[in-house]
Amino acid sequence: MTQDGVAQRLFVALDFPDFDRAVELARQLAPLGVRFKAGLELFCRVGPQGVVELQGVTGPLLLDLKLHDIPRTVERSVRAVAALGAWGVTLHATGGPVMLSAGVAAAAAAAAQGWAGTDGRLRCLAVTVLTSLDEQLLHVLGVHVPLREQVRRLADLALAAGCDGVVASPEEARLVRDATSPSFLVVTPGIRPAGSAWGDQARVATPQAAVEAGADCLVVGRPVTESPDPVGAIRAILEEMADVP
Ligand code: C5P
Repeated sequence: MTQDGVAQRLFVALDFPDFDRAVELARQLAPLGVRFKAGLELFCRVGPQGVVELQGVTGPLLLDLKLHDIPRTVERSVRAVAALGAWGVTLHATGGPVMLSAGVAAAAAAAAQGWAGTDGRLRCLAVTVLTSLDEQLLHVLGVHVPLREQVRRLADLALAAGCDGVVASPEEARLVRDATSPSFLVVTPGIRPAGSAWGDQARVATPQAAVEAGADCLVVGRPVTESPDPVGAIRAILEEMADVP
């Protein structure tokens, strides 16, 4: 795979409390060809107009809003996100099949009507089991099936609802890859280069292990955003990804 191809598979999470810091890092890293993700923290700070402005630097963003509501609300929210010209949006698969289908229908309608902004189409990615959860925490939530089984179940729901892919941990990437179609995107946060701190993440892997497990796209935050040398950190991750045959 070309260096450009590898870089397009890496999303940097711009988890910052303000616009200026997000733009500063994006300006440093954009020349490397990586993509960017904006999550709830930044969205709540800068709002939709900030997202549009930020996309002038980052290109179409993965908006990690983790929508989880009644189908009508999700449908209308996805429509609003599509109009921002984002690359993709996340929805919680536990919102259920009707909610997921409503989101997918809204994204398709926006694309058909030419409202989907810069990238032409908004991808709907279903979040399976958060990478911060482990088997024990899942049980606390009243889910009494093994974590991998729950991820598999939610991935099946997302595929059936027409989602473009799922967000899962690298530990389940192979399971989801094998259970779905090749074009179904497997996006994995919980990326930790060897020696970096886990923070609040519970299910993690190195960039190399995530790619080997079949992840299409990797999401990395703190190992880059908290690094004294973010460009060097990204280069090292891209090299690791490119080394996987
Ligand atoms: O800093 P770190 O690399 O842990 O950042 C991971 C990013 O991916 C965060 O923005 C987090 O919100 C997001 N994410 C996640 N687990 C999911 C879905 C999204 O960690 N299941």
